[in-house]
Amino acid sequence: MIAIDSLSKSRGSLRVLHEVSLAGAEGGVTALVGASGSGKTTLLRCLNGLETFDAGGLTVAGHRLEPGPHVPATLERLRRDVGMVFQQFNLFPHLSVIDNVTLAPRTVLRMAAEEARMVGLALLERVGLASFAAARPATLSGGQQQRVAIARALAMQPRVMLFDEPTSALDPTMTAEVLDVIIDLAREGQTMVVVTHDHAFAKRAATWVVELAAGRVARQGPAAEILS
Ligand SMILES: Nc1ncnc2c1ncn2[C@@H]1O[C@H](COP(=O)(O)OP(=O)(O)O)[C@@H](O)[C@H]1O
Ligand SMILES: [Mg+2]
Repeated sequence: MIAIDSLSKSRGSLRVLHEVSLAGAEGGVTALVGASGSGKTTLLRCLNGLETFDAGGLTVAGHRLEPGPHVPATLERLRRDVGMVFQQFNLFPHLSVIDNVTLAPRTVLRMAAEEARMVGLALLERVGLASFAAARPATLSGGQQQRVAIARALAMQPRVMLFDEPTSALDPTMTAEVLDVIIDLAREGQTMVVVTHDHAFAKRAATWVVELAAGRVARQGPAAEILS
């Protein structure tokens, strides 16, 4: 599901990622850890084709990305299979909660409005927010917004989900609500990569752990080994 081989990326004179390889992260839950500035977000964005890179390569959900500019058609196919949840939720503020969730299935998959609505409501139910379908994102708490963002990503039935510090903007109560949703997904077998500083969460959810330090893989291995 996920393979990265010797991926390198510079920004100007700064080596942001240096020959990063992920070996054992094929399926399950990969926790990506490391100090601020170590390259975690950049690596996650590379996996979704949001960033280009200079050398090496990666395969995600069967889609291959090579160095240099990505082919738009490849990115379009890749993003149907790879969902991303951001630190700051990034919901569309002018759309209702349900419209946020159904936008991609309707426009990208050309799903009929009524079917998309049923699928969207089921997903909102799953993250505990069915009663908020008509609300605007700004009227929801941060934890609720992040759960909407997860439902929105799930609406494309992604083979791989990427989470970039999904709870870093949340207080402890909201953090727990969001992590419970992510742990449920993990139990259901969703392949995911989660950037996290939460050791307890990583211990509960992760199968594989990759630690970045200054753009290099410092350590990686089975979660039980690395986190003990
Ligand atoms: N848009 C950008 N322009 C220039 N430098 C950036 C940009 N984004 C990140 N960086 C730099 O790249 C390095 C890795 O950043 P990042 O991937 O965000 O790390 P992390 O997510 O681990 O905190 C840092 O040195 C950061 O300052
Ligand atoms: Mg980051």
